[in-house]
Amino acid sequence: MDHLSRARIARRANARRLYVLYVALSGIIAAQPMQAQSTVGSIQFNPQTKVFRIEAGDVSYVLGINEKKQVQSLYWGERLNAEDSFATAISNAQASSFDLAINTTRQEFTGWGGGLYGEPDLKITFPDGNRDLVLEYVSHSITGNDLTLRLKDVSRNVYVQLNYEMDSATGILRRSAEVENKTMFPLTIEQIASGTWTLPREQDYRLRYLTGRWAGEWNLREQSIQPGKIVLESRRGSTGAQNNPWFAIDKEGANDEDSGDVWFGALGWSGSWQISVEQDPVQQVRVTGGPNSFDFAYRLNPGEHLETPYFYAGYSHDGVGGASRLLHRFELGSILPNTRRPKLRPVIYNSWEATGFRVDEAGQEELAEKAASIGVERFVVDDGWFGERSNDHAGLGDWHVNFTKFPHGLKPLIDKVHSLGMDFGLWVEPEMVNPDSDLYRKHPDWILNFPGRPRTEARNQLVLNLARPDVRQYVFDSIDQLLNKNDIAFLKWDYNRNWSEPGWAVVAPEEQKEVYINYVRSLYSILDELRRKHPLVEIESCSGGGSRVDLGIMRYTDDVWPSDNTDAFDRLSIQDGFTYAYSPGIMTSWVTDSPTWVNNRTLSLEYRFLSSMQGSLGIGANLNHWKSEDFATAKRMVAQYKEIRELVQRGALYRLISPRNGSEHSVTETVSPDQKSAVTFAFLHSSTMLYPFPRIYLRGLKPDAMYRLEEISGKTDTATPVVASGAFWMDHGVDLNLKGDFQAAAFMLKEGSK
Ligand code: GLA
Repeated sequence: MDHLSRARIARRANARRLYVLYVALSGIIAAQPMQAQSTVGSIQFNPQTKVFRIEAGDVSYVLGINEKKQVQSLYWGERLNAEDSFATAISNAQASSFDLAINTTRQEFTGWGGGLYGEPDLKITFPDGNRDLVLEYVSHSITGNDLTLRLKDVSRNVYVQLNYEMDSATGILRRSAEVENKTMFPLTIEQIASGTWTLPREQDYRLRYLTGRWAGEWNLREQSIQPGKIVLESRRGSTGAQNNPWFAIDKEGANDEDSGDVWFGALGWSGSWQISVEQDPVQQVRVTGGPNSFDFAYRLNPGEHLETPYFYAGYSHDGVGGASRLLHRFELGSILPNTRRPKLRPVIYNSWEATGFRVDEAGQEELAEKAASIGVERFVVDDGWFGERSNDHAGLGDWHVNFTKFPHGLKPLIDKVHSLGMDFGLWVEPEMVNPDSDLYRKHPDWILNFPGRPRTEARNQLVLNLARPDVRQYVFDSIDQLLNKNDIAFLKWDYNRNWSEPGWAVVAPEEQKEVYINYVRSLYSILDELRRKHPLVEIESCSGGGSRVDLGIMRYTDDVWPSDNTDAFDRLSIQDGFTYAYSPGIMTSWVTDSPTWVNNRTLSLEYRFLSSMQGSLGIGANLNHWKSEDFATAKRMVAQYKEIRELVQRGALYRLISPRNGSEHSVTETVSPDQKSAVTFAFLHSSTMLYPFPRIYLRGLKPDAMYRLEEISGKTDTATPVVASGAFWMDHGVDLNLKGDFQAAAFMLKEGSK
């Protein structure tokens, strides 16, 4: 069979599988969203063999208790037949005096002790100097979709509880671990992970991961997994853009975007984190992740518990494209705060690139009128509205309105925005303080630093120590009052630097390193409390762009700002990388001015719109500079976006042609969950050597259904039929007449022949 036919069969099989899955799920979801989904999976325990099977979606995850009472990983991958049986787990034999069994036995969670050389899940120092920890299975419980395993050290009263919960719709498994000190003395945790994932034994694995920096986030990288260890991490106090806590592993050479086995995962933690990918001496690959162990110590007093962040992971047989589609569904269905009342993202306007810090009542009202005229639904005032904020040297920490800029407070502007039919959003950066602020003058000791040592400012600001209860209260109260006093629908919650000198002087030296955990827990508790008190307020996670995007913060925020780089061409790569891990439904993307401040590149307004319409659309351009034809284009594009936004934000994304690695082309397609419609966006960097734009082979359609093609930005070849079958669009494909530099097109397919 030739390569093309294989690809075609795979595409059809995928499309059919998706459809069957959709039909199966849609009945369930329509009946009762969350509860019904959570009963579909199953957990089975065989008391004879001591084997646990956790199953949902297309995934089986199997583990067993071996003769050493270790929790041994037995299988993770494509769902197995219910009749398949597993024998009792047996630990590996000691291969030589150098190769102790503990290093080759595939364990779910290993204490550092007994000669372990690989990455431990838990490392403890006891007050008597003992640092050996050997965990044994004690008991378990199964409640609905949750499996809990209890482990205990061989001699000391240290208990570890391993928690497993599989999402029924996607087979994505959520793991965490909880340590409890039942000894009489405090102990110090020096390293703790949520758990270890072990892949099937195989040599040629490839790791994909995301790297970046400010204005250059979301670069997809790949490397083969060799003996040794690859560490992805942040030591920055927060998630960071240098690495994002996501990974995907597949078999090198055997896969393409939409076929082949992929194991993937993401850590739900917004502090310093680490994920290590390690190949052990017998070529087994393990992935261990949790808070970063660098500069870390957590003192656990008698009776205290410490629970790790959640580490989520899944398996797809539909390539890395299938893996991201599962993750997107999981995020939208199970992670975001509004999963029970899902709302589509509104079209927003944001003032930042237009007015910078020069915000005032009259100027913002003028922009609001113009924004409303093109169909914007939410008007967001960015930085500059508070304290003595006329540039980035002052004001952070003083969350009261600047009365020079807004003499009557924010009310007149908010009323105006409402009268124009939009709701109102506001920028805040609550975790920071400028030394030039009333807050800092009053509480210079509230910041992270080591007393008497240099203190590094970044963007002229310092980080407030949220681990302190008084700081937590101040931050909560400031934002709570802002929301009480003003009719605010949306907060853009920014965080414009990472940590330096992370000292916490007021607690005992042996507790100071707990700041890495307590800060983040405190941030989550503030967001949680604000959401409970103001349930209609939506929040965006921003960190100078995409430096704090992870499944931890996402439980409290409705969308994210992926990058300060708003160049619509650069954004194609940024958005491409972003979607490997996160849903386009939460990816805010603004149309800004051309030439852009980033690259001085000139791009047509239509190109800029089409680039941004692949996510949650916003406008950030200075509307005071627009001509009447720009308003007309914008009005048309915004209206078109509203037609397709449910599809873009909730559908299944196929990355048909990647903009990475200097590609001249970029094409994405999103298919609705019922496979009745699809939207395709295509971008050309530059035509060369008379080559035509590559033919687009669509995916995910029903082969036998008829679909009508409707142009959004008409560039399809004249020979293209108006109506054709899903098979035609997927196998014959579509030609576009895209020629020149920085050209773009988009079209829809809708089921039906009329
Ligand atoms: C960060 C954000 C921007 C903008 C500025 C304001 O850089 O990412 O979008 O809000 O702060 O200072």
